[in-house]
Amino acid sequence: MKNISIGVLPGDYIGPEITREALKVLRTVEKKNNWSFNIVHLLASGEAFEKCGLHLPQETLHKAEQCAALIKGPFGGPPEEINHPKWSGVEQGAILPLRKHFNLFTNLRETKVFESLLDLSPIKADIVRGTNILIVRELTSGIYFGAKEEKIVEGEREYSDLEAYRESEIKRVAIKAFEYANNRRKKVTLVAKSNVLKSSVLWREVVSLVAKDYPNIELDYMHVDNAAMQLILNPRQFDVILTNNMFGDILSDEASVLLGSIGLLPSASLGDTNFGLYEPIHGSAPSIAGKNIANPISSILCIALMLRFSFGQNNQADEIEQSVERVLQEGYRTKDLFQDGDDSSKLLGTSEMGDIISKYIENN
Ligand code: IPM
Ligand code: MG
Repeated sequence: MKNISIGVLPGDYIGPEITREALKVLRTVEKKNNWSFNIVHLLASGEAFEKCGLHLPQETLHKAEQCAALIKGPFGGPPEEINHPKWSGVEQGAILPLRKHFNLFTNLRETKVFESLLDLSPIKADIVRGTNILIVRELTSGIYFGAKEEKIVEGEREYSDLEAYRESEIKRVAIKAFEYANNRRKKVTLVAKSNVLKSSVLWREVVSLVAKDYPNIELDYMHVDNAAMQLILNPRQFDVILTNNMFGDILSDEASVLLGSIGLLPSASLGDTNFGLYEPIHGSAPSIAGKNIANPISSILCIALMLRFSFGQNNQADEIEQSVERVLQEGYRTKDLFQDGDDSSKLLGTSEMGDIISKYIENN
């Protein structure tokens, strides 16, 4: 692994703080294995807007095309500045185009409950213990990318967003879900709303056909409202959840609650090649930015996903994940993970959490 370029889009507010810790961990793994990556800083979101008035400059896309993988921090500003030009349209102008430009149609969000954080979950420990769910979310189509319309109907405004899926778009992400399930507990639950939505009927038909090629994998179907309930009632029943762009967005936030903090969850966005975009599932958390209290684990785990999915370095990816697990087992906590009764000498800041995870990797 020499001279491979990795593009880094640090993001806004806590973005640069947690991305810095992820790069610290990457440097540690790099040194340990005698690799050398070429880290390329890419301008995007607030930082890009300040410098050139755009959230995703062409030059960023050109440079990103030269990279083997992208590490991204959360983009976006505070809710009260939603209409400020620096922040308005970041999603439509930067996040969605990045996913679309690189055809990253598969988004992986794994919720694996940490035994040492069981008490952190608002759901009873007996229910969440052992939960390990991989949400496979379609990422480049559906209502996020369907036609948007603004019109006047009988004197009032009517806005609409179209949920449309083609068979091929469903098929390619379904195949990914079955492939992942094959290396896991061999169950795929398709989540849709086929009792009401036409597009969901197509999801059911196409996914049932794909399932025929995987006779060893069980295919289950659930309406999204029921799935939202089952995630809380009995999360262990799920292995792989396959779903569309919109439902995947909602259910992955819900699933993160099982873990107790959204600050723990990374995601991988992949297409048909090894190129991948790796980002935490949470936002830029303006209220806690600049205080060295954000949890960098979501971003650190993005490095593990990158090593696994873009570079096939499974052992090194496992090593990062195991080090995170051990640090948590030893009782180290960032503020979001800290509870009454925890050992306050083990309450760490953002950069100290990055240091200790790096140290565990070094000494492993
Ligand atoms: C996510 C985020 C994004 C999404 C937003 C910021 C556009 O919520 O990655 O889950 O809806 O996909
Ligand atoms: Mg979301």
